[in-house]
Amino acid sequence: MTTKTEEETTGEAVEQFAGRCLGVMNNAAAALLASIGHQTGLFDTMAVLPTSSSARIASAAGLNERYVREWLNGMTVTGFVEYSPETRTYSLPAAHAALLTTAAGPDNIAQVLQFVAMMGEVEQKIVERFRTGGGLSYSDYPRFHQTMAEESAATFDAALLGAVLPLVPDLPARLATGIDVADVGCGSGHAINLMADAYPTSTFTGYDFSEEAIAHGRSEAARMGLANATFVLQDVADLHAPDSFDLVTAFDAIHDQAHPATVLANIGQALRRGGQFLMVDFKASSNVEENIGLPWAGFLYAMSTFHCMSVSLGLDGDGLGTAWGEQVARRMLTEAGLRDIETKSIESDPFNNYFVATKK
Ligand SMILES: C[S@@+](CC[C@H](N)C(=O)[O-])C[C@H]1O[C@@H](n2cnc3c(N)ncnc32)[C@H](O)[C@@H]1O
Repeated sequence: MTTKTEEETTGEAVEQFAGRCLGVMNNAAAALLASIGHQTGLFDTMAVLPTSSSARIASAAGLNERYVREWLNGMTVTGFVEYSPETRTYSLPAAHAALLTTAAGPDNIAQVLQFVAMMGEVEQKIVERFRTGGGLSYSDYPRFHQTMAEESAATFDAALLGAVLPLVPDLPARLATGIDVADVGCGSGHAINLMADAYPTSTFTGYDFSEEAIAHGRSEAARMGLANATFVLQDVADLHAPDSFDLVTAFDAIHDQAHPATVLANIGQALRRGGQFLMVDFKASSNVEENIGLPWAGFLYAMSTFHCMSVSLGLDGDGLGTAWGEQVARRMLTEAGLRDIETKSIESDPFNNYFVATKK
């Protein structure tokens, strides 16, 4: 048995780690407060108000003053909001609004922080799964599809047509001519609808096994008057559509599959010869030691534990995990029969790798 030296248990390293733990405690609290700031519209409200009292901010946001004041004080001490003690007023600096408001689009971190709150909602069930194994069901996360749709729509609106599709050689020109496209794990379908609207001569099919998500995709397509967008309720592990598509996309929808290898094989089969697969998934290494300096790595492993790995295990799946990483992704794409795999990225989405692969 090794005994710890006094230096190891009371020295500078312990002091330093204590400081870090305190920071974690405050940052975790700030994350939850910021999630509320997004959902209640407080950040959006403050972004257009001059420095104001809690009463004015609450009134402008249509919220209860006592809650708003407590929130403002929490956001002040964690450095999100500025406070003037002389006038007892609060303001949101423009540099902070650039990362916390709806107008910030894909840069809106407050929107992403809703996922931290979502993790807390299932914590007790996850603690239990540490003892029993198994996983959770998508129905354990009543806010998942709405939050996911909101988060991904911001990226799709900002970058899908102008930056993402051009990653695939000649794709915008081929879409304009008319090709068949599928999106697997399409969620609420905004990507399909944006593409269908921009390229009326191509056809677009969204597959998802969530009734809620498919219904959302269909109603948005109807609202947009799209005749070339179809949404199919389908478990993509059972997808059998040989030689049907010229392009298949998967936006953040492979790592949480129960059977990702089967899904990738089905995608390979569904592509026509020369067809392409565009897979967007989190930028990480498959080796944990290479993720230590990755700024969003902690969030990835937490999201994996609380959701992505868990929903896969809940379906008796492989539990690949959110940080399955580039190396494993490229190997699995190759095993699915895809070739000429390239890992690309876009400026407005540093969190994701954009894999482009071809069916030979
Ligand atoms: C992380 S979400 C991404 C949704 C969407 N692509 C987006 O970017 O907003 C993953 C999606 O995959 C769907 N999904 C997971 N496993 C599936 C399966 N086996 N068949 C069909 N859909 C699946 C989920 O319902 C969910 O909508």
